[in-house]
Amino acid sequence: MEVVIAPADELARLAADAVERLVRTKPDAVLGLATGSSPLKVYDELARRHAEDGLSFAGARAFMLDEYVGLPAEHPERYRNVIEKEIASRVDFAPGAVQGPDGLAEDLPTACAAYERAIVDAGGVDLQILGIGTDGHIAFNEPGSSLASRTRIKTLTQQTREDNARFFDDDIDKVPHHCLTQGLATIMSARHLVLLATGKGKAEAVHQLAEGAVSALWPATIMQMHPHATVLVDDAAASRLQLAGYYRQTFASKPGWQGL
Ligand code: GLP
Repeated sequence: MEVVIAPADELARLAADAVERLVRTKPDAVLGLATGSSPLKVYDELARRHAEDGLSFAGARAFMLDEYVGLPAEHPERYRNVIEKEIASRVDFAPGAVQGPDGLAEDLPTACAAYERAIVDAGGVDLQILGIGTDGHIAFNEPGSSLASRTRIKTLTQQTREDNARFFDDDIDKVPHHCLTQGLATIMSARHLVLLATGKGKAEAVHQLAEGAVSALWPATIMQMHPHATVLVDDAAASRLQLAGYYRQTFASKPGWQGL
């Protein structure tokens, strides 16, 4: 696992560089898109590069990590709509190229299985962008999630619903209780994981992710088992890292030509 500690704008540029490098060498790449505030600067940077540098996603496809169950199709916080607003509508994905789990399906388990198949049929995800919850969840794999899980229905924890209430008029009662989420094994099947975390609120989760024992209690720790995982954190999110000095030294001495 590579841990990079840098200011948020630089982290966003590094993540965008990895996406750009992938899409320019493999125009039909499959991206994994995350919601939440953590990737927003990356999406801004990708949109800028699309507008100013001709970075094109016309041949690419993308799969979302998760979705709330039951939010009406037009609800602004439905993740499908969030992704449309934050990135899909700002670049040139072909119609239908961005897919997400269907939180409005009548038969949710069947929709989850279909989503797993769609990812496999697309050849798997090349680069998965991730955030992390304060309780160590990735996508919506809450503490206690099976480390071998696939896309399924999950119940959100009180902590996650409190954290996400800010997107629902600060009213926790408006935050759905259930979601569909790619499982930890689904995420682990992606060929490159790029996780972003900023702010002190993420410090403990980041410490566990990089340095804790692999455990369902901190689901993101499964990333320690991934052959190509990159963790991009600012100083505040890095504040509990035991090996922060070593991570800084390693990145500072990395050859410039070598991407993430
Ligand atoms: C949400 C999303 C996750 C996201 C996490 C952190 O619950 N389902 O994909 O990574 O919370 O969100 P943020 O980046 O806003 O802190």
